[in-house]
Order: sequence, then C-alpha cells, then structure tokens
Amino acid sequence: MELTKAKLSDIAQMQNLVKPYIDEGLVLARSDDETANMIRSYTIAREGGAIIGFAALYIYTPKLGEIRSLAVAKERQNRGVGGAIVQKLIEEAKTLGLEQILTLTYRASFFERFGFKEAPKEEVWHHKVWEDCIRCKHFPICNETALILKI
Ligand SMILES: CC(C)(COP(=O)(O)OP(=O)(O)OC[C@H]1O[C@@H](n2cnc3c(N)ncnc32)[C@H](O)[C@@H]1OP(=O)(O)O)[C@@H](O)C(=O)NCCC(=O)NCCS
Repeated sequence: MELTKAKLSDIAQMQNLVKPYIDEGLVLARSDDETANMIRSYTIAREGGAIIGFAALYIYTPKLGEIRSLAVAKERQNRGVGGAIVQKLIEEAKTLGLEQILTLTYRASFFERFGFKEAPKEEVWHHKVWEDCIRCKHFPICNETALILKI
C-alpha cells in the first residue's frame, strides 16, 4: 500500500468507493465539483494502482483542522489502512502548524488510539454546522461523537 496526495483523475474512483457509506449515512456526500475544489486536502491509499481508501484534512482556521470523509473499501478494512491514512493526516497537520484536529464520528474508539479525546459537540458545532451538518440526513439529531486531538 502507498499513501499519496489525490489527483483530479481520482475523483470518480473516490466517489465509487465512498458511495455505500454515503447511503448508510456514515459519510457526507460531496459533489465532484466540491471534491475537486478541495482535492489538495485528500490523502489516498493505493494498492496496485487501485484506490482502497482516503480521507481529507480540511482547514477551518490557522489553528483548527478536521479529518473528514474517511473511507476504506469494505474488503480492505481492519488491516490498518484507515489508521495509516489518519496517521499521515496528523503528520500533515503538524507540518502545516495546526494546533488541533477535530473529527465527528461513529467510531470514537478508532480515533482514540491516536490520542483524540471526546469534546463537547458545542465546541465544534459552529465550525461545521452551516457548512456540512445542514446537508446531513441525520441533522439535527446527530449521534456522532466529536473528538479533538491537540497536536
Ligand atoms: C472507519 C474506517 C475508515 C476504518 O478503516 P480501517 O482500514 O478498517 O481501519 P484500521 O484497519 O486502521 O482499523 C480498524 C480496526 O482494525 C484493527 N486493526 C488494524 N490493523 C489490523 C491488523 N493488521 N489486524 C487486525 N486488526 C487490525 C484496529 O485496531 C481497528 O480497531 P478499532 O476500530 O477497534 O480501533 C472504515 O471502517 C470505514 O471506511 N468505515 C465506513 C466509513 C466510515 O464509517 N467512515 C467514517 C469514519 S469517521
């Protein structure tokens, strides 16, 4: 497996990979245009040329970023791919000089092993609500856990 930054030509494969999780309500749908607009934020895991997972490090403020849109192909899960992507994005956040990374997830324990700690949702809400939550099918009853990593 190799980790690389995304290219615009990856978008179609990324959309195919994430579609089942969008349908399950685990990941928020993003259009091709939105994905292209933020293509620099994505890190991709590849195996033999095929995309097997990806996630984005999105920047809200000079201090705060978010890991979002994390998805690993079903048949490649539980082999460390998701963990490797998160680790890479944490390194990227450090290099950029971010101080905190937030994430909203149904898999709190997955993020806790990197040092993420649960945070009151209100702390992250104002960053996310008008940009993303408003488009989520679970809004406004959100059962995700908000977590923050101080780096
Ligand atoms: C969440 C998700 C990205 C995790 O990806 P993944 O590649 O399975 O992640 P990892 O393999 O690094 O870790 C998954 C589990 O496998 C375990 N694991 C990692 N490497 C392993 C290995 N070599 N052998 C056995 N188990 C392993 C980890 O300990 C982890 O357990 P935990 O979740 O209880 O902490 C993936 O399940 C997914 O795409 N889910 C659907 C989309 C989704 O929910 N996205 C939103 C997440 S915010």
